[in-house]
Amino acid sequence: MKATDLKYPSAWEERRPALHEGVFFVPTYYHEHARELFPEWKEFFGREAPLAIEFCSGNGTWICERATADGERNWLAVEMKFERVRKIWNRGRCKGLENLRTVCGEALTFATHYLPEGCAEEIFINFPDPWPKGKHAKNRLLQPLFVEQLARVAKREARCTVVTDHHPYAAQALQQMQAHPAWEPIYGDPFYITDWPGYGSSYFDELWRSKGCEVRYLSFVRK
Ligand SMILES: C[S@@+](CC[C@H](N)C(=O)[O-])C[C@H]1O[C@@H](n2cnc3c(N)ncnc32)[C@H](O)[C@@H]1O
Repeated sequence: MKATDLKYPSAWEERRPALHEGVFFVPTYYHEHARELFPEWKEFFGREAPLAIEFCSGNGTWICERATADGERNWLAVEMKFERVRKIWNRGRCKGLENLRTVCGEALTFATHYLPEGCAEEIFINFPDPWPKGKHAKNRLLQPLFVEQLARVAKREARCTVVTDHHPYAAQALQQMQAHPAWEPIYGDPFYITDWPGYGSSYFDELWRSKGCEVRYLSFVRK
């Protein structure tokens, strides 16, 4: 089995929401009847179980590790680049992970149009693209609209964790989450920790640590 065994389910110009080989494909523009087109969790995973979502999963190393370690939960990887979705899909298949599914789509679009309210027990965003240049910072995912969607899809008492080596982004994530009435930081001032034994590692975690960067973990609870 190899990553390229996963084919896109429709011609590029005919993209539509589709469940194919355990991957849900979110088109860029067509979201009519989106909630009805998204499968029930039982259909998607083959069972009902508490749901953990990782947005921006990259090649899926972290979520595959977590899904292996925590078989009690259903794990959903959300990644917009098809080449990376293929890698997550292939990794999950090779490891025989029945509790892992992938969404190929943009995080805000998917959360806004497809995810039902109060579905997630835990949410993770590991090393979101930092857009380090000041003039590009507006492209960062952790903005008010996304924070609002996180609050909508999280169950009460759900935890949301953001991990980044990029300190201006950590500050922005904290500011955006604190500005929303539904989210409360778990850690006291400075509101992050730099060591989380057992959290797990990812491609970008290893990359930035190998360059000596300090990784910050920010966690919030849904009030
Ligand atoms: C810096 S990489 C981190 C990948 C992985 N979490 C890791 O730690 O190795 C960021 C990933 O997020 C994806 N991404 C960025 N913005 C996204 C968005 N709005 N929706 C979905 N995926 C996104 C990128 O394609 C990329 O794979």
